[in-house]
Amino acid sequence: MEIEIFSDYHALSQAVAGTIMQLVKSKPDATLCLAAGDTPRLAYALLAEMAAADKTSFSKCTFVGLDEWVGIPPDNQGSCHFFLQTNLFGPLAIDPSRIHLFDSLTTDLDGECRKMDTLIRKEGGIDLMLVGVGMNGHIGFNEPGVSDKLFSHVIALDETTQTVGQKYFDESTTLKSGITLGLKHFMESKKAILVASGTRKADVIRRALEEPVSTALPASVIRKHERGVVMLDHDAATVLRQNTIRGNHP
Ligand code: F6R
Repeated sequence: MEIEIFSDYHALSQAVAGTIMQLVKSKPDATLCLAAGDTPRLAYALLAEMAAADKTSFSKCTFVGLDEWVGIPPDNQGSCHFFLQTNLFGPLAIDPSRIHLFDSLTTDLDGECRKMDTLIRKEGGIDLMLVGVGMNGHIGFNEPGVSDKLFSHVIALDETTQTVGQKYFDESTTLKSGITLGLKHFMESKKAILVASGTRKADVIRRALEEPVSTALPASVIRKHERGVVMLDHDAATVLRQNTIRGNHP
């Protein structure tokens, strides 16, 4: 695993967008799993600008969803679906046939998980998985204490996730469970990037990079990913030891 630190959120977002571009240029039919959430918002806007300026087409890529709030419809602005459509798929003009997101309204959530796992297997795995980190250390909706043996699954959301998640919604919304790719997908992805920005993420980043690797803090598992990169802005890296930044991970 490597750590890359950028001066500010803009520089970080530019680097994240550049990394996605590079990958798609070298593999135009890549399978991508890109997180929703506030952190990658600017990176996706910059990616759309770069792709237009560069005439890079994403039309052969396959996009798989990372996660979704169970029971929240895709046209609700707080859903991951809505976020990705608005900030990523729309601006990049991705054909709906290339997009595979969880249907979190289905009565057969387990079937939905198996469908996603089968699709990812058929695609030959995920070329790039880009995740943010929750205030409780989750990645996707892999909440603290989750098994690292799981592919897609349905999970009860931690209290922190239920509370922090309100920021995406217009009105108070009941968020009880999530459907998510698993840590097994994350660890098997050909490249994994964890992005974090701002001082409010500094402590969870410190714990993920300096405390023992454990599913009690799911983000920490990136330290076992051979092609894992943690991309931070200066603020998210403020409480890291110099030794950690230099790459001496415990
Ligand atoms: C979103 C997701 C979540 C977020 C995380 C950080 O698809 O999987 O794990 O990445 O909660 O969210 P932000 O970026 O809003 O701080």
